[in-house]
Amino acid sequence: MSNWIGHSPFAQWLVEKTSPELVVELGTFTGFSAEAFAIAMMGHGELHTIEMDKANIDMAKITLEEYKNAKVIHNEFDNVIDDYEDHSIDILHIDGDHMFKSVLNDAKKWIKKISLDGVLLMHDVFNPSFIGPLVVFSSLSTPRVIFPKALGLGVSTANTSLMREIHLKWYDEIVGQGVIGDMLNLWQINGALVAALMEKAGIQQNNVEFVIET
Ligand SMILES: C[S@@+](CC[C@H](N)C(=O)[O-])C[C@H]1O[C@@H](n2cnc3c(N)ncnc32)[C@H](O)[C@@H]1O
Repeated sequence: MSNWIGHSPFAQWLVEKTSPELVVELGTFTGFSAEAFAIAMMGHGELHTIEMDKANIDMAKITLEEYKNAKVIHNEFDNVIDDYEDHSIDILHIDGDHMFKSVLNDAKKWIKKISLDGVLLMHDVFNPSFIGPLVVFSSLSTPRVIFPKALGLGVSTANTSLMREIHLKWYDEIVGQGVIGDMLNLWQINGALVAALMEKAGIQQNNVEFVIET
């Protein structure tokens, strides 16, 4: 069972609100989150989900078999990035490897593929085992909120009217930008843990201050 199940109602709402033509997911696993999108999309637009692991792909193909607009792509993210034009993806879901270096790589390369009014979703931004997604998510230049449940789903978009609607509709479930900063500070209080994670990812701790232009 995937933690992502907890975010299905929001995915459903987001798809209804934005009617995306193209949803791209980095990290299929066996297809739980992809299925949440496929159900919400009801055959409208295209869903691409990308995964490098053959066993996961085989499972995901079974999970997604009945959704004709879902394409399961067996490859590494970096290998297929040139198949997508800049600003062509309406919803991008980053949920691949959670090490800081990997999340940073995925975010820097793929965020420019999001359409100007599009939405970035990033899973595991509130996962006690991984600092990477939260650090990267907190560095985005666009407005952002987090759903802390189910290991944390980060949502960021330059579409300010959509962000306002998210605030209104999901008020009880989200935390906003200020609180995200506090979460990061909480992590940083536990300096030894952060330092160890950074070292494991091959990153100098004082190099985490950056802004990802979106
Ligand atoms: C956290 S799981 C995805 C979970 C899935 N989104 C869900 O909620 O059901 C991450 C997946 O990304 C895949 N992955 C990690 N790095 C990758 C890369 N660079 N290219 C392709 N797949 C990758 C892993 O094999 C793993 O199955």
